[in-house]
Amino acid sequence: MALANLQSSQFDLNEELFDQITGIVNADTGIQFLPEKRTLVQARISKRIRTLKMNSFEEYADFLNGEAGQDERKSLVSVLTTNVTRFFRENHHFENLRDEVLPPLIKRARAGGRVRLWSAGCSSGEEPYSVALTVLGLEPDIQKYDFKILASDIDPEIVAKAQNGVYPERAFETVAPHLRKSFFKSNPDGLGDTRIASKELKSIIAFRELNLMHNWPFRGQFDVIFCRNVVIYFDAPTSERIWAKFANQLEPNGMLYVGHSERVGNADQIGLETVGVTAYCKTGRS
Ligand SMILES: C[S@@+](CC[C@H](N)C(=O)[O-])C[C@H]1O[C@@H](n2cnc3c(N)ncnc32)[C@H](O)[C@@H]1O
Repeated sequence: MALANLQSSQFDLNEELFDQITGIVNADTGIQFLPEKRTLVQARISKRIRTLKMNSFEEYADFLNGEAGQDERKSLVSVLTTNVTRFFRENHHFENLRDEVLPPLIKRARAGGRVRLWSAGCSSGEEPYSVALTVLGLEPDIQKYDFKILASDIDPEIVAKAQNGVYPERAFETVAPHLRKSFFKSNPDGLGDTRIASKELKSIIAFRELNLMHNWPFRGQFDVIFCRNVVIYFDAPTSERIWAKFANQLEPNGMLYVGHSERVGNADQIGLETVGVTAYCKTGRS
């Protein structure tokens, strides 16, 4: 197929190739692609094909299946994942964190204890920075203690973006002005109107590339896990497996926050208790 045809034709990604290519992504990430996503997937893959100067979806699928295509699988995941996020998204979680969950954790940290929070599927960083701002709003000297937030995502490009911590001024509409002013500085290297996360804010967050489908390299447990608007894209057996892994990774009384349209179906069987619409607490029973 000529390149020109690839750009003009709407339905070149036939069902078989769609299944083949999305099957690879599903195996790598757990993300499922329903048939109605074919046009969207086609548009996004077409861009990769043009970048790689290939001529057809078939050639691209063959490339992905070969040894040389291993790195391309990462780029494919990057173009097919949804990264939509914003500061203090679903703010009721941050209110619960501030009012109920953090006070005893900060007390523990001040007494020399260890506290760990995790934003799993952190996208471009607004979620872990919102967690960090909530913490610093309560304890400005938190850096003195053994208190860390892990921010992870499957996509190395988005993790790098999160780590850079540069956002346009309009992204701060949902951030309290005093927190924005204290922890996001005007960006000296920035083009346009941007702000950059301060060293202080970044210092309590560790950014890592991590695929939730792979083994998790943790020795310790977490007190709080945010995994919001990530599992919604997974197939049902994968979602169930991942919820159970999160439950296992939580300290007793630890909290799991999930996205507005997600539910942990079998919560009580995996030792979680529903404590809010999309908030679960580890009971210690399972
Ligand atoms: C819609 S964003 C959610 C961002 C944030 N948690 C929120 O709710 O605003 C979904 C993120 O999940 C990540 N993701 C998808 N599959 C993943 C996997 N298997 N392991 C880790 N992250 C994954 C994507 O790269 C994307 O950044």
